[in-house]
Amino acid sequence: MTEEQLARGLKGVVIDKTESSKIDGKLGKLIYHGYDIHDLAEKSTFEEVCYLLWHGKLPTQKELDDLSRSLAENRALPPQILQIIDLVKATHPMDALRTGVSALATFDPDTEDNSPAANLRKAIRLTAQTATIVAAHERIRKGQKAVAPDPSLNHAANFLYMLKGEKPDAESARAIDLDLLLHADHSSNASAFAARVTTGTNADMHAAIVSAIATLKGPAHGGAAQAVMTMTAEIGEPERAEQWVKDAIAAKKRVMGFGHRVYKTEDPRARHLRDRVRHMGEKYGQVKWFQILSRVEEAMAPYRERGIYVNVDFYAGAAYSLLGIPEDLFIPMFALGRMPGWITQILEQWADNILLRPLLKYVGPVDLPYIPISERK
Ligand SMILES: CC(C)(COP(=O)(O)OP(=O)(O)OC[C@H]1O[C@@H](n2cnc3c(N)ncnc32)[C@H](O)[C@@H]1OP(=O)(O)O)[C@@H](O)C(=O)NCCC(=O)NCCS
Repeated sequence: MTEEQLARGLKGVVIDKTESSKIDGKLGKLIYHGYDIHDLAEKSTFEEVCYLLWHGKLPTQKELDDLSRSLAENRALPPQILQIIDLVKATHPMDALRTGVSALATFDPDTEDNSPAANLRKAIRLTAQTATIVAAHERIRKGQKAVAPDPSLNHAANFLYMLKGEKPDAESARAIDLDLLLHADHSSNASAFAARVTTGTNADMHAAIVSAIATLKGPAHGGAAQAVMTMTAEIGEPERAEQWVKDAIAAKKRVMGFGHRVYKTEDPRARHLRDRVRHMGEKYGQVKWFQILSRVEEAMAPYRERGIYVNVDFYAGAAYSLLGIPEDLFIPMFALGRMPGWITQILEQWADNILLRPLLKYVGPVDLPYIPISERK
């Protein structure tokens, strides 16, 4: 590709090879290292998916137990990180997470060691510690004490425990486990790409994860689940959904939770969250969100012929809300789910590293005479 050929937004540009995940946007298929997302959603767990992505195979029971134990053992934060979280408690939870990970680099014994063994140790620590940062920030900003992690709980259950101070029921824990697993990797999304760009300069894993978190924060990437809940609140009643959608489309607004750069059919992850939200809504006696979302989906049916289908974010926000997770934590939830995918792409980048340095087509002026400052107008 020459300077003359523009690939704005890098649309359609294949930047490298991966074994981590593959999206088939026409068929609506997603695989993690060969395994269909539907099989993983029904049969697997977040910890197992971490193992799959980082080691390229499903673990034996012992391998899974070892990884689960390592994650549990590495959840605690250095006390200085809790102090830093306290100092920045008024900030957006994504900024607290980004700051916390940046500060963790100071305390990690392997920060400057980019060998495969050190990177795997950091993968475990960062995956475990980021969940603790998000939960601790939420409690500290509410004036509560951070809850120490419970090593007897799995990653998802422990996160809810650290967030609320109470052990969750099995169903709530599984809802989070499923949500994290469904977000674990998604090929060359903007935040994973940012992590690769940072790694391409031979910068360490903490630096790359900070880049990824910063990139996920933008509403065009991580923010749609929150926007869906804002929309749901605005619609208010199921019977108002159809007119709301008509008005939004007429005003050339985007209906949040619909459309995708790669999927031109239903995002395969949406089905599992739809089922969860229906089920949890019935169980907790809060069916209204599901009813409103279903009516929005029905009203959007005519746009399917243009490839605009429901995406993963459409039901994710309702799932979080049913679990009592505040709206500004939705993007950090996405980040916690995406950690293993960011990490696996960082590991892949390290395995065959290359500087990611594209070109820009210069369209500014040329050959301007330099005017001394005293003569400029
Ligand atoms: C995700 C998204 C940015 C992908 O965009 P993209 O592949 O670059 O597609 P475009 O922005 O070029 O949109 C193509 C057409 O579909 C329309 N469209 C796309 N998503 C739409 C939506 N959610 N609601 C209404 N119309 C939509 C666009 O208006 C555009 O129409 P036009 O050709 O008449 O101008 C886009 O679908 C979107 O903004 N969705 C809402 C936000 C969201 O849910 N994001 C989470 C993604 S996981």
